Amino acid sequence: MIRSRIVSAGGYLPADVVSNDELARRYGLDTSDEWIRERSGISQRHLAAPGESCSSMGAAAARQALERAGVAAGEIDAVIVATATPDSSFPATAVRIQAALGVTRGFAFDVTAACTGFVYALSVADAMLRAGHARCALVIGAETYSRILDWTDRGSCVLFGDGAGAVVVRAEEGEAGILSTHLHADGSYADILHVEGGPGTTGGAGLLRMAGREVFKHAVTKLTAVVDEALLANGLRREDISWLVPHQANIRIIDAMGKKLGLPPERVVVTVDRHANTSAASIPLAMADAVGAEKFRPGDLVLLEAIGGGLTWGSALARW
Ligand SMILES: CC(C)(COP(=O)(O)OP(=O)(O)OC[C@H]1O[C@@H](n2cnc3c(N)ncnc32)[C@H](O)[C@@H]1OP(=O)(O)O)[C@@H](O)C(=O)NCCC(=O)NCCS
Repeated sequence: MIRSRIVSAGGYLPADVVSNDELARRYGLDTSDEWIRERSGISQRHLAAPGESCSSMGAAAARQALERAGVAAGEIDAVIVATATPDSSFPATAVRIQAALGVTRGFAFDVTAACTGFVYALSVADAMLRAGHARCALVIGAETYSRILDWTDRGSCVLFGDGAGAVVVRAEEGEAGILSTHLHADGSYADILHVEGGPGTTGGAGLLRMAGREVFKHAVTKLTAVVDEALLANGLRREDISWLVPHQANIRIIDAMGKKLGLPPERVVVTVDRHANTSAASIPLAMADAVGAEKFRPGDLVLLEAIGGGLTWGSALARW
């Protein structure tokens, strides 16, 4: 049976590491390190420098993923980028990354599903690889949320960061690979987490708006449902899961999901304390962290889950 095997993961984080205290000072925010850490688990975030972009960070993450996989850029025939902060409306950030890497074969496009973007992109890549449209794909999450944050809104701007993560996914015969993906959206909740304005309306990039409490209410119930859906589809139980790699929005949501699955904390990959919420980049960055620390072993069951603007939510289950 042909499966899409996640061969490796790589990441890139901008050099500017900003602590909660430094963020408050820099933007004149009426907040505190204690408030941010208690409510979200976030201690710091990385912010992109003026010359950095979604594509430059995505290309850097992709280079690390390729190097770790021992895969040459010439073997890549699909580049799929999940982002809500593309360099420009078009061309897709994926083609800019494709060019930066020297990839000339196959196709490249972007996917937008906010913080669920990487799970969506991985699902699309999996379907296309299994259908024979490509053999070896780069699936990337890359974000520059610092450019769409309202730095006067302390309720949202303290929660996000910039960065990029990438995985190499190859069509291979065997047991290892993506077992299933499960995607959902409910546009009736679009207004609780969205960007106000944009290239097709106000002409600018727009600003992020979030009703934090509303989003929080949906998170654990929808994530639990989509995790159970993945287990049921594969005839597996919660105790079969080896690793949880959740979207890194908030430590309280992550801990609640770890507890629901009965996983000890060391089996839940956590980066939110260091990276904050990097939206579509958060899961591949967390995977890059885990791969760098050689956490996943052959045969391990790795569960990814995310929820974000849309609302969108989804899961992916893979055998390493
Ligand atoms: C955003 C979030 C941390 C806020 O925590 P909360 O306990 O719900 O707090 P509230 O928004 O109700 O605000 C409580 C108080 O803190 C204040 N507050 C908000 N942001 C603050 C900050 N950065 N520093 C200090 N005080 C702050 C509010 O003004 C409010 O004050 P008031 O009671 O005097 O009006 C929480 O709702 C959350 O994590 N939501 C999910 C967000 C998320 O994960 N989004 C991404 C999904 S992909």
